[in-house]
Amino acid sequence: MAEERTRVGIIGAGPAGLLLSHLLHRAGVESVVLEARTRDHVEHRQRAGVVEHGVARILRAAGAGARMDRAGAVHHGIELRFDGRSHRVDFAGLCGRDVVLYAQTEIVKDLIAHRLADGGDVRFAAAATAIEGIEGERPRIRYGTAAGEQVLACDFVVACDGFHGIGRPSIPAERVRHFEKSYPFGWLGILADVPPSATELIYARHERGFALHSQRGPRVSRLYLQVGNDDHVGNWPDDRIWAELAARFALRDGGWELATGPITDKAVTPMRSFVCEPMRHGRLLLAGDAAHIVPPTGAKGLNLAMHDAALLAEALASWHATGDHTLVDGYSDTALRRVWRAEHFSSWMTGLLHRDPNGSAFDRRVQSAHLEFIASSRSASAQLAENYTGLPYV
Ligand code: FAD
Ligand code: DHB
Repeated sequence: MAEERTRVGIIGAGPAGLLLSHLLHRAGVESVVLEARTRDHVEHRQRAGVVEHGVARILRAAGAGARMDRAGAVHHGIELRFDGRSHRVDFAGLCGRDVVLYAQTEIVKDLIAHRLADGGDVRFAAAATAIEGIEGERPRIRYGTAAGEQVLACDFVVACDGFHGIGRPSIPAERVRHFEKSYPFGWLGILADVPPSATELIYARHERGFALHSQRGPRVSRLYLQVGNDDHVGNWPDDRIWAELAARFALRDGGWELATGPITDKAVTPMRSFVCEPMRHGRLLLAGDAAHIVPPTGAKGLNLAMHDAALLAEALASWHATGDHTLVDGYSDTALRRVWRAEHFSSWMTGLLHRDPNGSAFDRRVQSAHLEFIASSRSASAQLAENYTGLPYV
């Protein structure tokens, strides 16, 4: 079997793998991206929608932000709804930052288009099956295609292959530590062909559970409902979804109505917090969901993945240019500082807004008091605004 060679072998064409490959190309470092699924599949998989201030800057600086700036919407705040009332968190006034609403599917489409236009090597329907030799200087990825098994030899392997990929389990168990927290609920997410009922995102805490109102441009709404962690879409006919959403977003004094329309996508996402330390073993580096998971409440999963890719691109470009390993050696510690900040924020915001099925009436009163405090204290809302829009690049 012929063995191909590249500098950096990247497993996974999600946001982390594609941005890494794009940034490496701009730094003159060759890479190959192996993706198990088809291009159509990765371009249409519904996921996140909020791009942090700093991640939008990374995309613009990399020449990949033009469509985001045309089609995305800059948001200067979010609305918190609780106890039938509404409170706006004004990002611009509290921390001078904003976020861009631009779907992960569109970022993935943009990055694939850039890679292909630049002559990049992205191989779809190419599933990595094994990573070998990571403790030496010439690691190899075995992968399967319609033409049979192939081998890619590299200087470094970067696993951007998500939580269920083969990257993280390829590190010997005694060399890593996993930190984990599970939640007794999940999210049912829908896409609907109906103009959004609000200009900004609404995060609603209700006795019946959490709900989130988001958007995908002027004609499509993206909505989420807290559901049980063993729930599935079969339990949720469209009428039940709209009735439940309307109940959770209702304001005490009325005056707001949720517009409904045809639902085009429905899926249940489990909630989990997870970190793998360190994010490297030998010549294998982990980035994005392969190394860490956050519950989606703080909209951090996509953003963490993009930050990892930016850090790694800088580290691998420096190694490539000078042979200096300092940034590669520091990658895990540097990335983990941001990861743990996001882990705290995401689990905090999840606890603030969800109904804990095992919680007591006392817990719910405390939750209300916490939301009241955020609504009445500038410093409390500033903390939310700073974390949500993204803390400075570390
Ligand atoms: P992924 O986007 O998961 O990309 C990994 C890629 O690796 C995939 O394309 C996969 O096919 C490929 N792959 C896996 N194994 C192999 C293999 N062996 N060989 C080759 N390729 C392989 N975050 C939010 O902030 N808000 C949300 O609402 C939200 N919703 C989500 C819904 C779902 C169902 C999921 C799974 C995640 C959601 N997230 C959300 C999280 C966010 O989308 C992720 O954090 C983000 O996709 C991470 O990017 P990534 O590149 O690290 O991984
Ligand atoms: C979206 C997803 C999130 O997890 C979030 O906190 C905000 C928005 C979205 O898909 O639009």
